[in-house]
Amino acid sequence: MNPRHFLTLLDFSGDELRGLVTRAMELKQWQREGRIYEPLKNRVLAMIFEKSSTRTRVSFETGMAQLGGHALFLSPKDTQIGRGEPLEDSARVLSSMVDAVMIRTFEHEKIERFAQFSSVPVINALTDQYHPCQLLADMQTWFERRGDIRGVTVAFIGDGNNMCHSYINAARQFGFRLRVATPPGYRPDPAIVAAAGETVSLHDSPAEAVHGASLVVTDVWASMGQEQEQREREQAFRDFQVDARLMALAADDALFMHCLPAHRGEEVSAEVIDGPQSVVWDEAENRLHAQKALLELLLASDRSA
Ligand code: CP
Ligand code: NVA
Repeated sequence: MNPRHFLTLLDFSGDELRGLVTRAMELKQWQREGRIYEPLKNRVLAMIFEKSSTRTRVSFETGMAQLGGHALFLSPKDTQIGRGEPLEDSARVLSSMVDAVMIRTFEHEKIERFAQFSSVPVINALTDQYHPCQLLADMQTWFERRGDIRGVTVAFIGDGNNMCHSYINAARQFGFRLRVATPPGYRPDPAIVAAAGETVSLHDSPAEAVHGASLVVTDVWASMGQEQEQREREQAFRDFQVDARLMALAADDALFMHCLPAHRGEEVSAEVIDGPQSVVWDEAENRLHAQKALLELLLASDRSA
């Protein structure tokens, strides 16, 4: 049987994603109560990181430990992957020993190829194109604060990057309206936008996108791998900072999200990210709970609630 992978939000149905969010909230509550729940005893998650990480590594590793399993951190510096062993071979070998593989890498095509040759579930922990695990946490954060997100207006301000693409997929799957404001040269992938149809609209003006929105989201201007473009991007994005003036155009009770790490004074002002509308700390913590729900769904054959 082919294993189930989580490479983008489109790999699961809308109902399954909503189910994951609900389960994440429940697992968070259990954790708060100190309840021991170890459905993944003796299960091992391999974590391949070709880019840096704080939240993703700690949340997956902690999540596996809390579920009774184990996580292996694999850096390309110390494994044969970094010395050019073919991905197909690594996929076959690793998946013969572990129960799931989590990968953070550059080209999305690499994770697709790995998944094709893996006999166990593969989880996308960020590629240049998508960051679906972050969206599980973002959705959980919204549901906890405001209930269902169906029909809500969300504004994504900044770069048409991996986070933006995953927001577009989330808009399709969860049924919210997404307005994306980017400088003209930094729009999201037209194919991803087109597949989302009416759900998504593109804007040149951050003010237009944010007007009346209930959730305002941004991300860094230069993603991992784009460090050499930092200067040029600072110029291109200078009118795209989420500051108090921009937030004032959103709904009165609008929330602010950012996947972190953030650059205060660039994509967001300190006043906004450290202010009362910001839910970034819940969002970061929810990586743990949402991914536990994901690991449980992919790995626990006998979920006993
Ligand atoms: N948001 C996020 O993925 O953070 P890390 O890069 O620290 O994992
Ligand atoms: N867009 C950012 C997200 C980091 C979590 C990056 O890819 O670096």
